[in-house]
Amino acid sequence: MEEKNTLEISHLGVSFFTRGGEVKAVNDVSICVPQGRIVGIVGESGCGKSMTARAVMGLVKRPGRIVGGEIRLDGREITTLTAREKRALRGSEVSMVFQEPMTSLNPVIRVGKQVEEALKVHRHVDRKEAKRLTLEMFEAVGIAEPEKRWGSYPHQLSGGLRQRVMIAMAMICRPRLLIADEPTTALDVTVEAQILRLMKGLCENGTSILLISHNLGVIAQVCDYVYVMYAGRIVEQADTFTLFQKPMHPYTAGLLGAVSSLRRGGDVLDTIPGVVPNLLHLPAGCSFSLRCAKCTAQCTGTMPELIQAGPEHMVRCLYAGEDDHTGSV
Ligand SMILES: Nc1ncnc2c1ncn2[C@@H]1O[C@H](COP(=O)(O)OP(=O)(O)OP(=O)(O)O)[C@@H](O)[C@H]1O
Ligand SMILES: [Mg+2]
Repeated sequence: MEEKNTLEISHLGVSFFTRGGEVKAVNDVSICVPQGRIVGIVGESGCGKSMTARAVMGLVKRPGRIVGGEIRLDGREITTLTAREKRALRGSEVSMVFQEPMTSLNPVIRVGKQVEEALKVHRHVDRKEAKRLTLEMFEAVGIAEPEKRWGSYPHQLSGGLRQRVMIAMAMICRPRLLIADEPTTALDVTVEAQILRLMKGLCENGTSILLISHNLGVIAQVCDYVYVMYAGRIVEQADTFTLFQKPMHPYTAGLLGAVSSLRRGGDVLDTIPGVVPNLLHLPAGCSFSLRCAKCTAQCTGTMPELIQAGPEHMVRCLYAGEDDHTGSV
């Protein structure tokens, strides 16, 4: 199957140089987003999802920096662009919905104006047309009374409305690549469904989407392909159907187990025991070994490679495929 990739991240490394040492927030991560597809990244807090996204946007801030790898957008290497070239890329070809909407909206400019400006800079439309398109987009992301909201300042809006303004701003330029970092976290399920439908529509018009979420339900609904991250690395990747049907890494199985126990009527999220290890003090061998019920002496010796487990299925576990991990945690 020959597919054109909009985004190709190869062996990306992002590290923070702290007093305690080098924190490898993103460690040898390779991700592809084919044109017109939605690709997901899933994993617990602190595993490197946002840093991967920020690296693509050219927005890793000190003390962090990209320490290795390549990022290609439509075949063009973008990590080596100048600050000015990166700015030009953002908003026109690549847009991002940030996890913290407040930090990316200007507090002293009316939200409608901000969205319009994004459109005018990157899409050369006149004022009247910009306003019309903005109101149309506000409506599409579920903002009631768009005319009234156009004139609001960010602090006058609820978290959910601010998030929708951010989504409108990211989508309005019809970017080649949209990176959405937990885009629907502050939204109720009805609005969430509406946003996810919008994303699918955008894809049908050729936009490629990298969707970051720790909500597996969201991932299952819209993603074609999923990467599972743990402690800075990819531990498993597969098309969505395969990943949910036949997870091979105990960590993926644990994430899925936590969701299905909720569905069974449990009211407490049955999480994987333990926490993500401190990235400065990772165990020798497999990073998940400390929390893994199937850990053996071999697991604590060497870091497993990401190996092929199926046609489009890769997994980083010495015992992948030896038995069915489904529901094992
Ligand atoms: N300013 C910083 N200094 C040192 N380390 C940092 C800094 N910012 C991030 N990190 C490291 O980068 C890791 C990855 O962070 P990232 O924001 O990518 O996580 P995430 O997967 O997006 O988590 P979440 O689900 O909570 O958004 C963190 O665990 C932390 O160790
Ligand atoms: Mg994050």
